Amino acid sequence: MENIIIGKNEYRGKTTQIPYQAADRFRHMYMVGKTGVGKSTVFQNMALQDIINNNGICFIDPHGESIDWLLARIPKNRLEDVILFDPSDTEHPLGLNLLEAKDPREQDFLVAECIEIFYQLFDPERTGMIGPQFEHWLRNAAMTVMAGPEGGSIIEISKLFMDRRFELSKRKYLKEPMVLEFWTKQMARTSDFHKSEMLNYFVSKFGHFMNNTIMRNILGQHHSSFNFEQVLAHDKILLVNLSKGKIGDLNARMLGMIVIAKLEAAILKRAFLEPGKRLPFYLYVDEFQNLITDSFLSMLSESRKYALGIHLTNQYFAQLPQKLQDAIIGNVGTILGFEVGVDDAERLAREFEPFSKESFLNLPRFNFLIKLMIGGKTSRAFSGVSLPPLSSAVPAQAGKITTLCSLAYGSPKPLVEEQIKRYLR
Ligand SMILES: Nc1ncnc2c1ncn2[C@@H]1O[C@H](COP(=O)(O)OP(=O)(O)OP(=O)(O)O)[C@@H](O)[C@H]1O
Ligand SMILES: [Mg+2]
Repeated sequence: MENIIIGKNEYRGKTTQIPYQAADRFRHMYMVGKTGVGKSTVFQNMALQDIINNNGICFIDPHGESIDWLLARIPKNRLEDVILFDPSDTEHPLGLNLLEAKDPREQDFLVAECIEIFYQLFDPERTGMIGPQFEHWLRNAAMTVMAGPEGGSIIEISKLFMDRRFELSKRKYLKEPMVLEFWTKQMARTSDFHKSEMLNYFVSKFGHFMNNTIMRNILGQHHSSFNFEQVLAHDKILLVNLSKGKIGDLNARMLGMIVIAKLEAAILKRAFLEPGKRLPFYLYVDEFQNLITDSFLSMLSESRKYALGIHLTNQYFAQLPQKLQDAIIGNVGTILGFEVGVDDAERLAREFEPFSKESFLNLPRFNFLIKLMIGGKTSRAFSGVSLPPLSSAVPAQAGKITTLCSLAYGSPKPLVEEQIKRYLR
């Protein structure tokens, strides 16, 4: 397992590289800094080194620029490992089914994630907009939709409450007594008025994704176009382009959280692999603050044993929920700070002795302070300079990979739409 280079350190006229050792990376990295200081570039350079070193990575990019940059630089011998997930490729939509599970354990995990994602999207502060009752209905409905050899997706959930034939066709596959009882006892006793009230609520949440063609064509396919366990097992290069300008903020967040949930589900299965067989995998999430669920936070503390190295960045630390700030300070082995605003400077300086608040306020562009995990221990803080964008673009390569991926992983839009129409009929 090769080290990669984060940046350079200049000390008393001598320049040395700042290496990041593989084993230390499973303790994760957090990076913060104002716009334009070079955060995305640091991740791009690190991810490119991982790719060159034949490691598996997933890069989640809210703008798409980092993905375009990487696509243009993928070395020849790794071209076939690239899986590009770009929702704006509407002619060949890839499938991403949150509710596709291979075993009961995975099913439970994904249903819990589904609920968590809805909270994050519609009621992050838990004000009661999504209450225990919606949660209860959603849990049972999701379990029911998944039942049977055909499986199902979240866009069929509303249909369960509208189409009795569909409900019965799914119920016959249910084994879980609690879910069965939900239908035979609870639903049987629920008044039509209450049902339609709840249905409205479901439609108002799911409608957003069902009525958007791009989202429906991605989320509604029963079979995801790529398998996250294979991504991990074969060192794939999963590039997720969530350019908000193209699909909208809520949709981008939904897809980002589903990708992370599916990746987590696959990572958790590694518990059954011998430790030696868990290949290192590196996850990069740029502007991660909108994609965080509770289970993702627990990954920060647990994923060490799964050989997953997580890299997170955003612009403002102090704006993250307190719980998230604590999880980062408590669990992340390597913290890198570029120039930040006053609040963040104060907060970070507490962790970065002997540096002061002013040190953070006065950092020139591309310069940072870092506490680096070295051999399992976090170092004292020291300064560094980031690397300029590595290597140059191979002309026309990005376009070629995009076309290849859309043919290899996407399905023609008319076929997808026909299939989904059938599921919803
Ligand atoms: N070390 C460096 N040397 C020279 N140029 C750099 C360096 N790091 C980044 N750049 C350039 O600076 C610009 C801004 O970098 P980048 O996009 O990485 O910033 P950012 O912190 O991610 O900003 P934002 O928060 O707005 O996304 C880019 O054009 C990038 O190529
Ligand atoms: Mg950036």
